[in-house]
Amino acid sequence: MSGKTFYIETFGCQMNVHDSEKVVGALMARGYAPVETPEAAELILYNTCSIRDKAEQKVFNRLQQFKRDAGKGKIFGVLGCVAQQEGEKIFERAPHVSLVAGSASYTRLGEMLVQLEAGNRRVTGLSLDTEETFETPFTRRDNPHRAYLTIIEGCDKSCAYCVVPFTRGPERSRTSESVLAEARRLAEQGYSEIQLLGQNVNSYRDPSPAGWNFAALLAGVAGVPGIRRVRYTTSHPRDFGTDIVDAMDANPVICDHVHLPVQSGSTRVLAAMERLYTRDEYMRRIEWLKTARRKYSITTDIIVGFPGETEEDFQQTLRLLDEVEYDSLFSFKYSPRPNTAALGMEDRIPEEEKQRRLMILQEKQRAIQIRRNAELIGEARETLVEGRNQALGQWIGRTSDNRVLNFTHPGANGNSLVGQYVPVRVTRSGPNSLVGEAVAG
Ligand code: SAH
Ligand code: SF4
Ligand code: F3S
Repeated sequence: MSGKTFYIETFGCQMNVHDSEKVVGALMARGYAPVETPEAAELILYNTCSIRDKAEQKVFNRLQQFKRDAGKGKIFGVLGCVAQQEGEKIFERAPHVSLVAGSASYTRLGEMLVQLEAGNRRVTGLSLDTEETFETPFTRRDNPHRAYLTIIEGCDKSCAYCVVPFTRGPERSRTSESVLAEARRLAEQGYSEIQLLGQNVNSYRDPSPAGWNFAALLAGVAGVPGIRRVRYTTSHPRDFGTDIVDAMDANPVICDHVHLPVQSGSTRVLAAMERLYTRDEYMRRIEWLKTARRKYSITTDIIVGFPGETEEDFQQTLRLLDEVEYDSLFSFKYSPRPNTAALGMEDRIPEEEKQRRLMILQEKQRAIQIRRNAELIGEARETLVEGRNQALGQWIGRTSDNRVLNFTHPGANGNSLVGQYVPVRVTRSGPNSLVGEAVAG
């Protein structure tokens, strides 16, 4: 038992957020106590993201801020994707850092902590050569109703722009048995929503003799008593089959939402990105979802300004937005990343042009969302209540199709509705959220 205090700040995707929940649990099980500020902590950890250059810079800014505290008994550690990518170079750039470890090494976390506690000031976990996934019985989940659950780690794709295969290593799936056991445990603990996580959930392959694929696992988790909602992220379009749509249609517990990152509407750019599908193949998947038995909300990720993206390529992406009518999208300016194939590509798009395309894309999407959300006025939707906006006197809810639906509930009489499922009628809409009233009764 160490008796030490720690503080952790997390950047990046849900995988990182959930990794931090596991790391926090493992630290607390060793006797470390969490504190609210880095100033109060003896061990300061940054769980980092390197998906774009801006994300990567954040951790170095943080480390710079606290440089003067080095030697005052504080220990600094860098975890996650920047740690894996930069490795021991971090010790040179920020000599007050004592621990550098990527996510593929968290199975060795205990051992690394022992080394730190023994006074070792150069502790690393940087091997990507692993077949294990990081599991711990001590996970400290931040949300009492919605739980993240990792089903697969790493990525075996090699999209030309992306660092993830270098920062998270090869794909490793957990056994269906251990995923289901965790889902049952979560239900017993009172969680009602589970979000299955992986960089590429539909590449899931059960390593046990049961041999389940992703669709089977999805249905399996949806069947766990007590679980009312199952979400999953992220799907790669190449591996998204009709069996997944069938599993969703057959299990209302699986939420009405699919996040299917397209990246570009141009087949030429998709090929350069090594995305492994054409625009038509992507649109076929959209068709499956649009003709399914249930109505699904579809969201996506788009990169503008990939090397060689012409005005015509960009126009094709804009036309794709009109065809699909996404309910929401994340859009990014291409950011050149170390180790990736696109780094050496010619025809870089100037920063101002990337910015121009991003603005046009976001403006178009905003108009689509305003229109689509307005169509929901008058409809009733079940929301899971996530919190309360005191200033507006509204409950903050989320619908199965992943929209934020804030609402008033005159009958609540000061009782907290957080964690409950409440039917709400939509009365107003904006580009990013809906407002409504609880349906009486
Ligand atoms: N595994 C997910 C993506 C995870 S990264 C998938 O395959 O869809 C999340 C998003 O970040 C990606 O979908 C992509 O749109 C964006 N992204 C990744 N690398 C990027 C880069 N170098 N520049 C800009 N955006 C990038
Ligand atoms: Fe990155 Fe492509 Fe893997 Fe997604 S599928 S994590 S974008 S390499
Ligand atoms: Fe970032 Fe690593 Fe996630 S690069 S987006 S934290 S997988």
